[in-house]
Amino acid sequence: MTDALQIVLAKRPVGDVNGDCFRQETVAIPALAEGQILVRQRFLSLDPYMRPRMSELHSYTPPFEVGKPLTGGSVGEVVDSRNDRFAKGDTVIGMLNWATHTVHDGKGLRKIDPAVAPLPAHLGVLGMPSFTAWYGMKHICKPKAGETAFVSAATGAVGQVAGQLARLAGAKVVGCAGGEDKCVWAVREAGYDACFNHRTERDYGAVLDRLCPQGIDADFENVGGPIFHAVFARLNNFGRVAFCGAISEYQDKEPMAGPPKMFTIVQRRLTLQGFIISDHTALMGEFVNEVGGLLKAGRLKSRETIVEGLARAPQAFMGLLKGENFGKLVVKIDA
Ligand SMILES: NC(=O)c1ccc[n+]([C@@H]2O[C@H](COP(=O)([O-])OP(=O)(O)OC[C@H]3O[C@@H](n4cnc5c(N)ncnc54)[C@H](OP(=O)(O)O)[C@@H]3O)[C@@H](O)[C@H]2O)c1
Repeated sequence: MTDALQIVLAKRPVGDVNGDCFRQETVAIPALAEGQILVRQRFLSLDPYMRPRMSELHSYTPPFEVGKPLTGGSVGEVVDSRNDRFAKGDTVIGMLNWATHTVHDGKGLRKIDPAVAPLPAHLGVLGMPSFTAWYGMKHICKPKAGETAFVSAATGAVGQVAGQLARLAGAKVVGCAGGEDKCVWAVREAGYDACFNHRTERDYGAVLDRLCPQGIDADFENVGGPIFHAVFARLNNFGRVAFCGAISEYQDKEPMAGPPKMFTIVQRRLTLQGFIISDHTALMGEFVNEVGGLLKAGRLKSRETIVEGLARAPQAFMGLLKGENFGKLVVKIDA
């Protein structure tokens, strides 16, 4: 059996993540114990939630351990099995190491049909980020015709689906993204009514007043910080916020203050709801039916950035925190 290449957390970042936080190791793959499988990985998903997990503070998931491999959503094929649930040749998805191979007890892994869609799609538009967008839009934002929905990180893995679902629900959809190319894609391909570049736009309030003259009824919040503060001030009566993430704050050394005038929540009868998608796995089947159906019918577009080679994962992850990815960021492991 060959060795495995893996990437471990070398040290915890303080502020911005840099290359010193990662170390590449070659390790011998151990013989399987009863109940274990060996997965040869094909694709690894890189996601913003990995940044809070690199810090010591316990969030909704435990922190990564220093000296141990980082983990993430990954798709691969079972190449050896001593577990009755999995056979050699099965394609599986679940949390695996940042590695070429992972020995696993199979818990939390599920088999997928590789014929349904290209493997990276199972980590993006048919996977966790898209499920997150679907849940937040359907169960919290609930946009409808005549309303205005706003989506930050509009072309990201989550945002691109969230925006399209709001449009399909009949709402006007406005977003923001970190580049002209991303904004053009959002409008031309994903059907946003408008999208502004948050890197060049200095006055978020003014641009929102221009693009959302009727105010905002539903906000799918991915970014937090000043963009959210400007959106919050423009929420209409009975507005809904699906609090999905706050990526602009993940590298801050101190937590950022919330928006001013919190009594607005009462005055405008707002609903602000945070959610973690892993609490809603029971709805996965419903999601796959609905979103899979939209994809099949050509009613949903998706965009990915695929990086070649596990060794490039740290650099790609640091880039994700600066907006260098365009759509779902996936590492192709075999290169
Ligand atoms: N609650 C949950 O269960 C759950 C599940 C999945 C994801 N999330 C959250 O959803 C959000 C989006 O995740 P994703 O997977 O779709 O990521 P993603 O969009 O694929 O990648 C992150 C994007 O965030 C934007 N960004 C990065 N730093 C920024 C900053 N300082 N200010 C503004 N934008 C910034 C960048 O896009 P631009 O170039 O457009 O700025 C970057 O491409 C994240 O906050 C993530 O933590 C939550």
